[in-house]
Amino acid sequence: MTNTTLYTSECFIVEGGKALRGSVKISGSKNASLPILIASLLTQEECSIKRVPKLLDVETTVQLLTHLGAGVERQGDMVKVDPSLVCRQEAPDEIVRKMRASVLVMGPLLARFGKAFVSMPGGCAIGVRSIDQHLKVFERAGASIRVRHGYLDMELKEIKPVEYTFEVITVTGTENALMLLSKCSKRSVLRNIALEPEVMDLIDVLRKMGAEIDVDGRTAVIKGSDYLRGFEHEVIPDRIEAGTFMVGAFITSGDVLLEGVIPEHLGSVIEKLRESGARVEIISRDKIRVSGDGKPKPLSISTSEYPGFPTDMQAQFMVLCSIADGISEITENIFENRFQHVPELQRMGADIHIKGRTAIIRGVKKLQGAKVFSTDLRASASLVLAGLIAEGTTKVMDIHHLDRGYENLEEKLRKLGAVIERRPHREEN
Ligand code: EPZ
Repeated sequence: MTNTTLYTSECFIVEGGKALRGSVKISGSKNASLPILIASLLTQEECSIKRVPKLLDVETTVQLLTHLGAGVERQGDMVKVDPSLVCRQEAPDEIVRKMRASVLVMGPLLARFGKAFVSMPGGCAIGVRSIDQHLKVFERAGASIRVRHGYLDMELKEIKPVEYTFEVITVTGTENALMLLSKCSKRSVLRNIALEPEVMDLIDVLRKMGAEIDVDGRTAVIKGSDYLRGFEHEVIPDRIEAGTFMVGAFITSGDVLLEGVIPEHLGSVIEKLRESGARVEIISRDKIRVSGDGKPKPLSISTSEYPGFPTDMQAQFMVLCSIADGISEITENIFENRFQHVPELQRMGADIHIKGRTAIIRGVKKLQGAKVFSTDLRASASLVLAGLIAEGTTKVMDIHHLDRGYENLEEKLRKLGAVIERRPHREEN
């Protein structure tokens, strides 16, 4: 009797050809929720964060906060954190491996306890993703950092004010630095900071906690306080989830009203959708309507830091370009390996070839349904989009990648008329 090992994962079964029609409420932002939940470590007082999406990455963040000793309680879409009982300063390997954004605990732990023992984040599917900039700021602030058995063993007696110009624009690097320096009562200056809305949302929270932070262009001047208060905050909407639905509405020849969005966070995405022939109406300060005939015009896209075209929307627009009537180009400037969705889209009949950092996409009439494999969060979203417009059935495997960053995706899509269901997938070796 051969012993077979059953691997169970989950997959989506998607039937192509249905237009998305109706309205969808966009969830709170994953990439704002994570730093804001972690910012609670900076205070001893209770923090309440609203509109926190139910995602794997949020669960991992809650697991990390709990591991550190904080009390965390979820009530619907609100998460309450009691950070007064935090008694550990170690982020273990098994958590950091699951979610590299765990490195965001470094700043707060150094600020509050003067030490942090954090497993070094490995690379990930989309690139090396080093954290040298985070560490340079910590060293400037007086931290000593040693590598010990795969962990970063950091100590910081007293936070020195910092003047630092980031060598690359880094979202979590900026966030780590802002959280550390929010507890330094002397004036610090950070230049070449990231300006993503999620960074700005964290800055709003740090100001509520008592830090004075002025942002002028890409320069932030921070005057922190050695006592930071608890806070109440509602997280901004997830612009990448919104962008994903906007692309879906257009390429399925649908008509979708997105509710609870912030249109100015989607400027470059709206530009590109309109350029490709989508009808995008800003209905009000928190509603956008997207419709179209499902025949996109080709585009030339180059990803860059906010307010440029977001790298997190690159895979989704590649699906749009794969059925455009002409040749499109997409250049990925932020991560060095963020084209893993390409071979999967090619299995569905997309005509794409890669030259260095640029993908050249020759539009085809129709994609064909196929069994395709998710490799990372936004790649998996692009495969679902491709399944919505493909001929026949698409099986999107390993959707735990997708569950990291999309809340109730299949329910939201079904409500818009998509035929999609989640199934366990058993693999016998
Ligand atoms: C954040 O990742 C987001 N994650 C990513 O979203 C997003 O793709 C990325 O910013 C870019 O917008 C969260 O906010 C939790 P970076 P982050 O530091 O901060 C290099 C998603 O899909 N770099 O801005 O890790 C780095 O290698 C995820 O939701 C250094 O060289 O990205 C990359 O090439 C995926 N040294 C570039 O900068 C450093 O110290 C941008 O990285 C830091 C970064």
